[in-house]
Amino acid sequence: MNFRILGTGMCVPQKIITNDDMATIVDTNDEWIRQRVGIAQRHVCTTESAADLAVGAAQSALENAGVRAEELDMILSATVSGDNISPSIACMVQSRIGATCPAYEINAACAAFIFLLETAAGYFARGKAKKILIIGAERLSGITDYSDRGTCVIFGDGAGAAVLGEGDGYRDCVLHVTGGDDVLHIPRSVGASPFYQNEGFPPYIRMKGQETFRYAVSSITSDVNELLTRNNLTKDDIAFVVPHQANIRIIEFASRKLGIPMDKFVVNIDRYGNTSSASIPIALDELARSGRLKQGDNIILTAFGAGLASAACLIKW
Ligand code: UT7
Repeated sequence: MNFRILGTGMCVPQKIITNDDMATIVDTNDEWIRQRVGIAQRHVCTTESAADLAVGAAQSALENAGVRAEELDMILSATVSGDNISPSIACMVQSRIGATCPAYEINAACAAFIFLLETAAGYFARGKAKKILIIGAERLSGITDYSDRGTCVIFGDGAGAAVLGEGDGYRDCVLHVTGGDDVLHIPRSVGASPFYQNEGFPPYIRMKGQETFRYAVSSITSDVNELLTRNNLTKDDIAFVVPHQANIRIIEFASRKLGIPMDKFVVNIDRYGNTSSASIPIALDELARSGRLKQGDNIILTAFGAGLASAACLIKW
């Protein structure tokens, strides 16, 4: 058995930080951020936890799908910026929405939502689940170095979710990991062991921007082409591409290289910034609720990030 997406949801914290607000924290300006990255604002947590955002997105997706929490057979979450190492966000959501199913978390950074879909596909294929909730939830503000203008202007907080049920919408997926742990890296807090002899790095996102940029453009292009070729589709068969929202220029380069026009790419980075594992489900939720998607449309989700990892999948809506 395969699955289809029954409903989507999202949740972002209330507080909005504009580029002008960022310019009061680091040496930056609205014009640079808009032109080089395409961001106008981002939402950041003040009182909300990552789990709060995840619960909000999950409840919205369940309502949208017309599915009750008790019907879920599995909850899977992804994050790089959860509230705890354990319990996972999936476990916290499970109890807070009143579900009784197993729940666990994976880490595939910004590409994680597609890894979650592929993980869920295994349960459907083995007949182990009829309904699965998947969630990408991030409180990236907690791992952002607000003295580094090269990263702190980029990221935002948020969560996105989808409810999956039996059907035939999920058509194909490619997953890749290529090394490059010095390109994009989020160290864990080093701890206080009296035995450690290395200092480690502060627990903040560290990124070589231009290398990541090049990897992003080439991985989107090759992953999408791989999916098209393998499924005997041309770019004209694709209604929408939902890319990870990391930089508007990455999306524009990929659009040109693929020959898929920009109006088929879903873009919301201007309002949310880069929300890592939440960026694709948030963009998908906005697309689904916009009324632009028609039943039977082919859509491609495509993402890349720390690992370095990339992923893309083909869905018939
Ligand atoms: O989701 C995970 C995947 N992440 C990504 O895909 C991110 C990929 N990388 C990028 O999006 C871009 O590389 C960045 C947005 C991170 C940086 O943009 P860039 O055009 O590659 O800038 P750069 O790092 O080459 O820096 C160019 C200049 C530098 O100044 P100088 O040395 O030329 O004087 C930087 O210091 O821009 C400067 N700069 C800034 N200026 C104003 C860097 N950050 C800022 C800033 N405001 N926030």
